[in-house]
Amino acid sequence: QKPSMRTRVAFEVAVLQLGGSVIYLGQEDIQLGQREPVKDVARVLSRYVDGIVVRTFAHKNAQEFAAYASIPVINGLSDLVHPCQALADLFTIQEHFGRLKGLHLGYVGDGNNVLHSLIQGCAMVGVNVSVATPPAYRPNASIWTSAMRRAKAHGAVVRWERDPKRAMQGADVVYTDVWVSMGKEQERQKRLKTFRSYQLNRALLQRAKPTCRIMHCLPAHRGEEITDEVMESPRSLIVAQAENRLHVQKALLMLLLKTTR
Ligand code: CP
Repeated sequence: QKPSMRTRVAFEVAVLQLGGSVIYLGQEDIQLGQREPVKDVARVLSRYVDGIVVRTFAHKNAQEFAAYASIPVINGLSDLVHPCQALADLFTIQEHFGRLKGLHLGYVGDGNNVLHSLIQGCAMVGVNVSVATPPAYRPNASIWTSAMRRAKAHGAVVRWERDPKRAMQGADVVYTDVWVSMGKEQERQKRLKTFRSYQLNRALLQRAKPTCRIMHCLPAHRGEEITDEVMESPRSLIVAQAENRLHVQKALLMLLLKTTR
């Protein structure tokens, strides 16, 4: 239902490199939920293919797809979560630092789907997370509660700050994402104003450790959530992070398809 560059290309290349073949179905092709119900699409596609990646607006569409499909269904992003991104993010941090547990990630910006999966994932592997969002854009309450619970079980801390400087203080990894996610375009002007002091720029970066690394799931809007200077910094892991979508999604496909074979 939503456009994609990284998720789509990384999954398509992953499948091809693993010896499979791919069919892409855009919203115009199947008109999910309009031309026919999600459950019918899920059940019929399950008779044709070995696995499905879905990218939807409403999270309940992804859940309904998974409930009715008889093959693995991977969430390639919904309004609520972006789990494949979080897997690649954690892999990238592990690849760079050689460890995860005990590191400190500072996130600044919107409490969106990318953040939801990131805090869940960090909590599960013991990465401490400080999140700074405007108060009206805090992460989803139930995801936040479960992340706090998971963090506690793994000896980590997940905390929210209003002040972005506090969230960045001493961070090993700094992370941001767009202020206007797909589907929120009508809120653009309001969001640009509200998020102005949450930009990841040189001054904010100075709060983090001098050895900190910069992450962004892309696409980025330079001059909004992040400056061009920070994007282009030698401390950026952003392109490696995008590359890792391919490797991690390949591993995910192997895991899921093996399980069902
Ligand atoms: N990060 C990410 O999911 O990129 P795409 O929207 O291009 O797939």
